[in-house]
Amino acid sequence: MTLVDLLRVAGGARLSGDVTVVGAKNSALKLMAAALLAPGRTVLTNVPKITDIAIMAEVVRRLGCEVTLTSEDDISRATVEIDVPEVPRHEADYDLVRQLRASICVLGPLLARCGSVRVAHPGGDAIGSRGLDMHVAGLRRMGAEITSEHGFVIATAEKLHGATIWLDFPSVGATENLLMAAVLADGVTEIDNAAREPEIVDICDMLTAMGANIFGAGTSQIVVDGVDALRPVAHRTVGDRIVAGTWAFAAAMTRGDVHVHGVPAAHLEIALDKLVTSGASVAASEDGFRVRIDRRPSAVDIVTLPYPGFPTDLLPMAVGLAAVSEGNSLITENIFDGRFMFIQELTRLAAEIRTDGHHAVVRGRERLSGAPVTATDIRAGAGLVVAGLCADGTTDVGHVHHIDRGYPDFAADLVSLGADVRRIQAPDEPVFTM
Ligand code: EPU
Repeated sequence: MTLVDLLRVAGGARLSGDVTVVGAKNSALKLMAAALLAPGRTVLTNVPKITDIAIMAEVVRRLGCEVTLTSEDDISRATVEIDVPEVPRHEADYDLVRQLRASICVLGPLLARCGSVRVAHPGGDAIGSRGLDMHVAGLRRMGAEITSEHGFVIATAEKLHGATIWLDFPSVGATENLLMAAVLADGVTEIDNAAREPEIVDICDMLTAMGANIFGAGTSQIVVDGVDALRPVAHRTVGDRIVAGTWAFAAAMTRGDVHVHGVPAAHLEIALDKLVTSGASVAASEDGFRVRIDRRPSAVDIVTLPYPGFPTDLLPMAVGLAAVSEGNSLITENIFDGRFMFIQELTRLAAEIRTDGHHAVVRGRERLSGAPVTATDIRAGAGLVVAGLCADGTTDVGHVHHIDRGYPDFAADLVSLGADVRRIQAPDEPVFTM
């Protein structure tokens, strides 16, 4: 019999206290790929200690780099040192790519450095189909030849050249891949309708320190004037606004008082404004913000959109908040077609939710009702744990490995804020054979 990890959540906690958020997963992964652009030793600090970073470290190792991860003072964060050879290998295999879709972000930098690259096609995942068409179209405009063969995306380009690229949608991944290709291309590349997330600004800051010429980071038009070579640097990862937002919503849902450190309120403007509309008081502080509420939240309507809109990664928290608010909320998801998969699990906690396409109508209840549930992805997992805090009785959240991919020591942070959450081992589901 095999044992699997569960988070056992006792309902009824009111979260209160201070919590420190470390660097953003979705930045650190791309910064590790950006290191490939320069031979020598890159040092990344404030990197979260999560499974996805360990997988990315292995991706980069298999490309010929030496990678070391050292714990920092806060046990949730590490310093990652990547020593990149003069000529990296240029193939990323399916066994790693299928575990970490973000490994597709090595496509741009390896193509720019090596002139050819083979990356396993990542396929779909639990939150939606997640295409690569914009990555491919943009790199083709820069002179790459790209084919898809035997499960690999294969790209070649003797020398990439500058181009004007209009993205159909401000895709985070496509913007990053194109940026990392453009910094070493011949001439000027303009990316229009570019993504504007703080993680994009973070990678642009690092690339600029490496010697790249980038203008317009954080706006919809990024212009890159290519250079011949880049040098390795030391860089501190920007704080994780999604983890910070998770704590903000958890404070509001549990009628708590939480001071979040490590992420500026400005990176979560619309999300925090929604909490204010629901009745919370939100105050910016020197290194973060504080969220307080001493009554049941009121229903608010929420629509996810690319940054600076409400983040899709906080959709499970938005639905969770609506499930315990007073009144009816309309929650709309515009980024990923599979984001609502976790709603089936939330209804096991007696949440009253009806979905129609990408809309969810949520009728708030005073309390949810604890039950065993299963995490379907990183954010859904965190959302279910926090919903469990608002439920009568015990909620066991299974498939905890999803949460481990994005939240360093989630249970310990919850305990430090006053929750009763324990990681336990339970027998895996039995397998029946004929
Ligand atoms: N899309 C295409 N074609 C493309 C690229 C994207 O159709 O060529 C579509 C996707 O299918 C999706 C939408 O565009 O429907 C948005 O995709 P985007 O490229 O912006 O997202 P991503 O780069 O795949 C990153 C984060 C996600 C986060 C989104 C949106 C990483 C590793 N992942 O994904 O984070 O939800 O941006 O902000 O950076 C998570 O951390 O749990 C997570 C899923």
